Amino acid sequence: MIRVAPSLMCANALHLQKDIEDLDHAGVDLFHVDIMDGHFTRNLAMNLEIVTRIKTITRTPIDVHLMVDNPESYLLSLQELQVEYVSFHIEATNQPLRLIQRLKAAGLKAGIALNPGTEVETLSVLADNLDYVLVMAVEPGFTGQKFIAGALEKISALKRLVDERNLSLLIEVDGGISLETGRRCIERGASILVAGTSSIFNRGADLYSACVEFKRQIGLGVTDPP
Ligand code: DX5
Ligand code: ZN
Repeated sequence: MIRVAPSLMCANALHLQKDIEDLDHAGVDLFHVDIMDGHFTRNLAMNLEIVTRIKTITRTPIDVHLMVDNPESYLLSLQELQVEYVSFHIEATNQPLRLIQRLKAAGLKAGIALNPGTEVETLSVLADNLDYVLVMAVEPGFTGQKFIAGALEKISALKRLVDERNLSLLIEVDGGISLETGRRCIERGASILVAGTSSIFNRGADLYSACVEFKRQIGLGVTDPP
């Protein structure tokens, strides 16, 4: 099953609630929320306060992508917020296994995010403990960037690892996902696509229609409006 996770940092901040409602009507599977600290990446996107408010208007699971130094310091807040998925960058901590274990002990799905320049081999000793891997197809920090084709080989390498070890690890891809790049990621083994400005946001059509059309064309069932 392929799942679509709209990246809410791409939404219109002036009517975020309306965008979330439209996306829920279109039947999205997760909301991808990028939390940045301005250190790990040169940008500040969303934060824990916004996640608190998002949780009051939707029941769709939240997929938090931590682009922060010291991701350990976010654990307690994310547990209290009862988000469902949390990925952190392996480049941002020297104790990834301990953080994975703490996330899972807190009842959260634990993922590791890999920058475009970080090889899959860096997480091979951790893979058995992970629920998913977030493969970055752009440098972290900004929307609207071009898909980095090198991500495709990383997806294939992860898929080989999953098959060799019979893991239940999911592959999520983030950055520059369009119909064309999304299909190529799926062919390689990805099952969660982060949908941003190259797929559903700022596409001219209204957000609901853009999302339904993307889901239909990428090969998913269309969710009829309620
Ligand atoms: C970038 C974020 C992505 C980004 C995706 O650092 O992690 O989630 O918002 O946006 P597009 O799809 O436009 O690259
Ligand atoms: Zn992201």
